[in-house]
Amino acid sequence: MKSSMIIIIFIFLNLLAVVVRGEIPTTLEGPFVPVTVPLDDRFRGHAIDLPATDYRVQRRVNGFEPEQISVSLSASYDSVWISWITGEFQIGYDIKPLEPKSVGSIVRFGRLRFPMYREAMGSSLVYNQLYAFEGLQNYTSGIIHHVRLTGLKSDTLYYYRCGDPSIRAMSEIHFFRTMPISNPRSYPKRIAIVGDLGLTYNTTSTINHLISNNPNLVLLIGDVTYANLYLTNGTGSDCYSCSFSDTPIHETYQPRWDYWGRFMQPLVSKVPIMAIEGNHEIEEQAENQTFAAYSSRFAFPSEESGSSSTFYYSFNAGGIHFIMLGAYISYSKSGDQYKWLERDLANVDRSVTPWLVATWHPPWYNTYKAHYREAECMMVEMEELLYSYKVDIVFNGHVHAYERSNQVYNYTLDPCGPVYIMVGDGGNREKMAISHADEPGHCPKPSTIPDQYLGGFCAFNFTSGPAKGKEWYICSMVMAPESGHVQ
Ligand SMILES: [Fe+2]
Repeated sequence: MKSSMIIIIFIFLNLLAVVVRGEIPTTLEGPFVPVTVPLDDRFRGHAIDLPATDYRVQRRVNGFEPEQISVSLSASYDSVWISWITGEFQIGYDIKPLEPKSVGSIVRFGRLRFPMYREAMGSSLVYNQLYAFEGLQNYTSGIIHHVRLTGLKSDTLYYYRCGDPSIRAMSEIHFFRTMPISNPRSYPKRIAIVGDLGLTYNTTSTINHLISNNPNLVLLIGDVTYANLYLTNGTGSDCYSCSFSDTPIHETYQPRWDYWGRFMQPLVSKVPIMAIEGNHEIEEQAENQTFAAYSSRFAFPSEESGSSSTFYYSFNAGGIHFIMLGAYISYSKSGDQYKWLERDLANVDRSVTPWLVATWHPPWYNTYKAHYREAECMMVEMEELLYSYKVDIVFNGHVHAYERSNQVYNYTLDPCGPVYIMVGDGGNREKMAISHADEPGHCPKPSTIPDQYLGGFCAFNFTSGPAKGKEWYICSMVMAPESGHVQ
């Protein structure tokens, strides 16, 4: 392996917390000579899912009391979303969806625990995960509530209770802190960024570390619960396609989402979480419906950021403008997402939010064999636009490893290009990625690269940079030092 060409600055097994420390040089001090620190094989153990019997995933409320409570940001500091679930999910052959309107969606909140002067009302929904095949069980969720609180002060602690007071089903008192105001001197102190989290004992380690680092905001860069590693009867596997290759549709076991929501509540009922979709959220079901759990369970500042989509949106956190992009929907130049991205970027005022950070699930720059150049079609469509607005940092997941690049654009070192940071090592049930595409015999065959959801293989589309006029498929080209890959 050409280890001198690749750099791994850190491997965090379970978590990347972006922490600037004195001993770590900033990217602006680069470009660095690539270095690889191979993963210690002892850490590539078996990640075991938390079982349904684990106390952290148990339902602990009665009747229609709220559970799975979370906070998400709106587009700016003066507004947040509170989400929760009431009632029990059903899974089986004969399910009867709950009536969403049967339980109110109310949040009481204020700067004091008592009295809480303010009240906001929101909306509710249920979603179904249906499989029209003999022997497969169907799922219908509890009632999912989303309420937007507005008129909040920046960097301020708020207390809240959510639920339906008319049926005496209000939550305990929780609290959150709003983001600081957006200006060049005002930032959240710590932002935790994690991908490919899952719900294993490794995940619990990730989240414990994350909590002990006291973040002000959590970004989850796709692949949330891995409920699609299960059959509808609750049988799980580390590799669904290997174990259940003859099932008529790729099944899921949606109660894993409820387990995940319960497990995460102690963190995300206090610290806002912003999620973007990964491939494990696709969760195909009857009538080709996809992303039902993802789009229903999380609150997104979609309307507030002008996207009207759960698959891409933006928000400010202090002096940072975050752009969350969807890799598993259309990203073509003629599509809605691209047009929205053009508008959103044009509206960024760098004198208010000097930092511009973009995230999406599958990485464009990745030197691992796993998912190697899989998202190239998205890159061909969008890289130039992000570059033209001088995006500072891109965060991705998908590849279960950590990797950081020099500033790069079109496979070329470029002081105006973003730094790419991959944080797909959140702790999920699948194994860590360890082999690199430039290791002897590991260069993936072109036929293995296209992903059915990512639009084929586009790496032959280079018109400039070191790839211009070269063979369309050369692992060493991507690994070349001038490409600026830094792991
Ligand atoms: Fe993924």
